[in-house]
Amino acid sequence: MSGMLKNALGWADARFPLSKVWNEHLAQYYAPKNFNWMYYFGSLAMLVLVNQIITGIFLTIHYKPDALLAFDSVEYIMRDVEWGWLIRYMHSTGASAFFIVVYMHMFRGLVYGSFKKPRELVWVFGMIIYVALMAEAFMGYLLPWGQMSYWGAQVIVSLFGAIPYVGEDLALWLRGDYVISDATLNRFFAFHVIAIPLVLVILVFMHIVALHAVGSNNPEGIEIKKHKDENGIPLDGIPFHPYYSVKDLVGVAVFLFIFALIIFYMPEMGGYFLEHANFVPADPLKTPEHIAPVWYFTPFYAVLRAVPDKFLGVVAMAGAIIVLFLLPWLDRGVNKSIRYRGPVFKAAIIAFCISFVGLGYFGMQPVTAVGTFFSRFFSIIYFAFFLLMPWYSNIGQDKYVPERLDEK
Ligand code: HEM
Repeated sequence: MSGMLKNALGWADARFPLSKVWNEHLAQYYAPKNFNWMYYFGSLAMLVLVNQIITGIFLTIHYKPDALLAFDSVEYIMRDVEWGWLIRYMHSTGASAFFIVVYMHMFRGLVYGSFKKPRELVWVFGMIIYVALMAEAFMGYLLPWGQMSYWGAQVIVSLFGAIPYVGEDLALWLRGDYVISDATLNRFFAFHVIAIPLVLVILVFMHIVALHAVGSNNPEGIEIKKHKDENGIPLDGIPFHPYYSVKDLVGVAVFLFIFALIIFYMPEMGGYFLEHANFVPADPLKTPEHIAPVWYFTPFYAVLRAVPDKFLGVVAMAGAIIVLFLLPWLDRGVNKSIRYRGPVFKAAIIAFCISFVGLGYFGMQPVTAVGTFFSRFFSIIYFAFFLLMPWYSNIGQDKYVPERLDEK
């Protein structure tokens, strides 16, 4: 390091723990040396978060949060603002990318048992992030003030009306009106643009602090802190920087390549990322034939529709999210990684994945007898996966787990 730079760093270090934070969280943060590609999704989630915030700021410059102007202001961004189409598509495709990345990130946690002791709080903070992300995406979708924005919000907010006694008042309070209106648009804008992003950034910070307090898990599910050298450095660890900061760049490059392909060639993804009906201005007098949320909500929407009673449907939908929070306490298995778990647990994970994707598919389709049958079937598997876990997670846990990474 050149003398001048060293002096500047020394000056800063005397006033702010710059080198200390850098070392503790990067240069001397020892991560297991066996991370695989599934470990790319944490850094990718951060990248997408930054993308959403930056493109969001530029969209806000031209967007008008007013029921009479909102739709046209988005069209103006798409057609007249220099590079506006790119910024808008980076943001709208970015929303779907966020959920793809986060679902992969959660799946990684699920199969390697990263939610288990001592990382329960890492998981719980992650789950709060996930719920906040859903609120953020839902409120953002109202802003273009298209048909699906309007009617999607109408359906979802009215679900709160199903809660006994307080439901109707709650829905009224959320909307600020008897129907979705300009008042709703204004408050959703405030939450989408500042309140929830702020909460998200704070939560991500807490997520990382919690992770670094206990250290990362890995595909083998062994605790590298158990075996340290005389300086207290885990024998199976390598410094995050430069090893993983460089490795993560590979993930970033691959991600950006695919992200760019989608943005340039299929930004609406045939109606999955931006629904066709949303290119028609909101019309409170005309309900679209088929209202469905965006793909990342549809597994939960299918659970809601699988239950005949509206209130119980809302309870089941909320329950489907709440059980995810409880995962660290439902799994009684001794071994963490899927590599050392019994066949019953492996089969359960496969059944869970099929049911989640199946629910996602049927949640997108118009209601049919077959769809309802499968939604019910998959909902039962979904809940069984969690509720029976305390019982089956312990079966076949006799596999030997190596103590060290290079143990044969
Ligand atoms: C904005 C969203 C999120 C961001 C930016 C984020 C970021 C990160 C980062 C950078 C890591 C460390 C690198 C890695 O292990 O991949 C991590 C680890 C982890 N995250 Fe997230 N995360 C997010 C959402 C979530 C969600 C929704 C969950 C689950 C509910 C979750 C659960 C975990 C777990 C369990 C770990 C530890 C993994 C291990 O050590 O094996 N995260 N997260």
